[in-house]
Amino acid sequence: MMKLHFSPASPFVRMVRVVASEVGLDGQIELVPTGILTPVDVHQVVAAANPLGKLPALVTDHGHRLHDSRVICEYLAHRSGRSDLIPDEPVKRFHVLTLQSQSLGIADAALAWRYEMVMRPQALRWHKWADRQEARVMMALDDAEAYWTASLADVDVGTIALAVTLGYLDFRLADWHWRKGRPALAAFYAGFSQRPSMQATEHANPV
Ligand code: BEZ
Repeated sequence: MMKLHFSPASPFVRMVRVVASEVGLDGQIELVPTGILTPVDVHQVVAAANPLGKLPALVTDHGHRLHDSRVICEYLAHRSGRSDLIPDEPVKRFHVLTLQSQSLGIADAALAWRYEMVMRPQALRWHKWADRQEARVMMALDDAEAYWTASLADVDVGTIALAVTLGYLDFRLADWHWRKGRPALAAFYAGFSQRPSMQATEHANPV
């Protein structure tokens, strides 16, 4: 069995789990819950699997440690022989990888906003920096609405990353109302979130 160090709240972990499910490898992955992680403490078990102390971290059947989410997804796609998730044809490949980058970048900025505005002590919060994270999210979503909708019919690491990121915004930042003014993204998510891979990996608070 592979081991995946896991929090049910992490969009990056969810990305890996959705890919694993789409390629039929989810049954070969043991989920190792980390409990509640904080941005300022070392979690010894996670650090043993990834010295950066970040999730997700995968330990393969042969004991190799893999991170981050993009590398793990590439490993799972490679191992399953599913080249459609990261296509070989160059134009398509870099298009898909860029949508993945843009989508996971939105999740990064949303998470940075939460660390600053939810976890950091109130007196120390840098509001202008947090506002910039929120603006990153909004601008990248607007760009996806304007330019990427023709790419959203496929199932690949780009659309999976976009779907899990939109799911994370629903989970943690519902009052940002990402659907407002973005009907194409809303329609994409309404369909994609019905996939069994998404349904089986819905977010929850860690315990
Ligand atoms: C969260 O609680 O939102 C979270 C936890 C772990 C990783 C990423 C996000």
